This record gives sequence, structure tokens and C-alpha cells, in this order.
Amino acid sequence: MAQDTLTIIDNRTQQTYTLPIENGAIRAMDLRQIKTGPEDFGLMTYDPAFMNTASCRSSITFINGERGILRYRGYPIEALAAQCTFLEVAYLLLFGELPTAAELTRWASEIAHHTVLHTAIEKFMEGFRYNAHPMGMLVSTVAALSSVYPEANDIHDPENRLHQIVRLIAKAPSIAAIAYRHSKGFPCVYPDNQLSYTENFMSMLWKMAEPKYVANPVLARALDTLFILHADHEQNCSANAMRSVGSAHTDPYLTTAAAAAALAGPLHGGANEAVLQMLDEIGAKQNVPAYVKKVKAGHGKLMGFGHRVYKNYDPRAKIIKQTAEQVFEVTGRNAKLEIALELERIALEDDYFIKRKLYPNVVFYSGIIYQAMGFTPKMFTVLFAIPRVAGWLAQWQEMLTDTEQKIARPRQIWTGHEVREFVPLNSRTTVAGTRGT
Ligand code: SDX
Repeated sequence: MAQDTLTIIDNRTQQTYTLPIENGAIRAMDLRQIKTGPEDFGLMTYDPAFMNTASCRSSITFINGERGILRYRGYPIEALAAQCTFLEVAYLLLFGELPTAAELTRWASEIAHHTVLHTAIEKFMEGFRYNAHPMGMLVSTVAALSSVYPEANDIHDPENRLHQIVRLIAKAPSIAAIAYRHSKGFPCVYPDNQLSYTENFMSMLWKMAEPKYVANPVLARALDTLFILHADHEQNCSANAMRSVGSAHTDPYLTTAAAAAALAGPLHGGANEAVLQMLDEIGAKQNVPAYVKKVKAGHGKLMGFGHRVYKNYDPRAKIIKQTAEQVFEVTGRNAKLEIALELERIALEDDYFIKRKLYPNVVFYSGIIYQAMGFTPKMFTVLFAIPRVAGWLAQWQEMLTDTEQKIARPRQIWTGHEVREFVPLNSRTTVAGTRGT
């Protein structure tokens, strides 16, 4: 029977090496024995952007990009989106099993009792300019929470970790709502713990003078479903940031802020805001062919299209598209949907996109729904970050409890100068092509 091994012949030395193959991978450290001599450091792998590198073992989220499969702890995303609440899914991601009714009630109560922000944090948020981007406010404020809870540094105590995890999941919507109200010049609304997680968020966003906010049940369910779909996505850029910063044993608030900063990028979670900017730029359905032609000529990207892992339709995009129809029955159809549908129709028929396996991803339709609900595009990535806090924390906890993990510190391939003789200041001349020359 064939061995699970890889035999390598180093043609530089005619040496043969046999490396074990485990879980479809070889250990990069097994390559270090391949040397040309005792002074040789040994072979490394070179993998910019980690296109083909597993950084960890994980049992949280499974994706099959070719088949468009997404499962949280083994459960298909389609079943979870249809039958769970976001808090139920957050529990599943963090603890590995779906909660019983009693466990879910206790979990929801714990979260509800940590939604209030310290007044120092509220004052901190008042300091932002009126037009501060809500993602900048979110990242900064999550980091500022580390100054309120210094005990969070004790990351090796499971109970303490859980306490901070509850605080972060509970306070993310409160911070997001204050960021939104700040941009509108509205006073903060205190949490109403009689409401569900998502309805409470809507109350903190949109409650004005009425005695009690009553969420539209269709919109509340749609937002909760969107939270479920955005909760985790295995080793994406922001999860990698969470694991990398967390591997230094940084406290969970500063670590989560680093992950949120990664998410803000327009190639990652910031793409949902960029999708709306793209649809605004296109302006009308009849302008879509010209825009697609521009992209194919290499001028910009179709924001909301493509994915490092999915080389098929993102299963989340399918569910979001169905959710959009339910939302529009309440809010009225968003004119941008027609442009988006035409963009999708044309792109899916065009060889440029087919050849590159570019399909709509999770952010392509989500922004259209958020806008129809009344959110400004600057809030879209914040809406992505709120649920992803649960996924980041699940990844963080798995990293901390993985005995194989240690501080993340990649190697490099040196392309710079060999050793040079020092040049005293008065002997230097400007080197062409450097700063300002
Ligand atoms: C998220 O990783 C995750 O799981 C992320 C996420 C999560 O839940 O955490 O799923 C959330 O970030 C979704 C992605 C949101 N980003 C966007 O929608 C931005 C637009 N998409 C692209 O920037 C791009 O598709 C990425 C960043 C998503 C993926 O980039 P890759 O895997 O590095 O692919 P690539 O840039 O190497 O592209 C391969 C080819 C290139 O063309 P060629 O050089 O071969 O000619 O496809 C082209 C790219 O130019 N291409 C696109 C394109 N995306 C890739 N061309 C036009 N429009 C696009 N959107």
C-alpha cells in the first residue's frame, strides 16, 4: 500500500529525503534538513500571502471552495441561517456544540448583562470628529476597552478569557450604535435588555423619543441572518491577524482591534462599502456593460466579486440574495439591486470572469440590504465586524489552547545588500531613485 510520504531528491547533492504527509500537508520544518552543507540554513517554503500554507489546525469553520460549501462546526450554513439566532451560532463557534434551550437562555442573559459601556468609553467616543469613519471609531474603541479591563491580560485563565469574550460580543453592537449615532449627531441610546441581541442593536441605533423601540420583525430577522452569515470564515485575513497578534499573548481587546483593522481593508470586509460606491459609479443598468469592459481592461475590480477560496458561488451570497427579497418587501426595492443583478448576469456569462472563477461573494448583496434598511455605506463594514467578533474570538481561543502554536514569526528571503562599509555623514552622496530625487 502506498505510504503517506513524499520522497525528495535534492539534485544539488543527490541526497534523498522522505517526508511524512499528514492531512494533505508536509511540515515546512521537515524541509530544513535539506541542506547543501553544514553551513546551509536548510530549505524554507516561500508563499507570499499564504496562498498554499496551512498556519494551524482548526475545527471551527470548514470551507470547500470548489463546491461552495461552508459549515460551522460541521453544520451547513444553510441550516444555521434558516433555523438559528446569531447568539446560538456564536455559542456554537465558541464552545463547539449547539446550545440547549437552557444553555442558550443563560448565554443570551450573560451577553445582555454586558452591553453597557463604561462612561470612560462613552466619553472617549465623544472625542471623535463628527465625520469620523465608524470603522476607525470601532477599531480604536475596542482597543480602548483594554484600558478599562486590565485583568484581560491574564489570557491563560479560561474563566477570565470567557468573561472578556462575553464582554466583547456584548459591547460590539453598543460601540457600533454609538458610532452611528455620533455621525448623526444623536444622543446615545442605552441598551434594552428585554430585547434580543439584534433588536437591542436596532434599538440603540434607531430609538428616538418613543418609550420603547419595536423592531420590524422581518428586518430584525434579516439582520440576525446576516450576522450568522458573517460570523466566521476560517483563516481569512482578519482571522489571521487575530491569531498572529494573539500569538504574542496580547490581551483580547487589542487583538480584536487588530483583526477589525484588517477587516476594514477594501479587499476584505471594507469591500461591502466599496460595492455601493461601485454601484453608485455605474449609476444605471445600461451603464453596466461599459463598466465591465473597463474592469476587463484592467481598470479596477468588480467589488464584491472573487474570493481566495471560493471558486464557485459563495454560499452566503445565495442566502443573502434570498434575504434581500424579504427586506425589500418591507423597505421597498433598492434601485441599486437592478444594477447589481445586471452586473452579476453579465459577469457570470463573460469568459474573463468565468476563466478566473469570479463569482459574487458575501459582500456583493449585503450592502444593498443594509442601505435599504437605512444604514449609510460607512456603517457596512461595522455591520460585518459585529458578528465576526465571535468568529475571531473562537479562532483566538483555539490558537491559545493549541499546544503546537507559539508566537507567529515568519522567515524571509533576503534580497538586500550584502555587508557594506559604513559611510560617514559628510561623505555621503544622494543615490539616484531614493527619497525625493
Ligand atoms: C471577504 O478570505 C475570506 O474568507 C474573506 C471573507 C470572509 O468572510 O472573511 O470571505 C470576506 O473578504 C470577501 C472578499 C471581499 N473583497 C472583494 O469583493 C474585493 C474584490 N475581490 C478581489 O479583490 C479578490 O477577488 C479577492 C481579494 C477577494 C481575492 O483575491 P485573490 O485570491 O488574491 O485573487 P487575485 O487577486 O490573485 O485574482 C486572480 C485574478 C487576477 O487576474 P489576473 O492577474 O490573473 O489577470 O482574478 C482577478 C485578478 O485581477 N480578479 C478580479 C477580481 N478579483 C480577482 N478581477 C476583477 N474583479 C475582481 N473582483
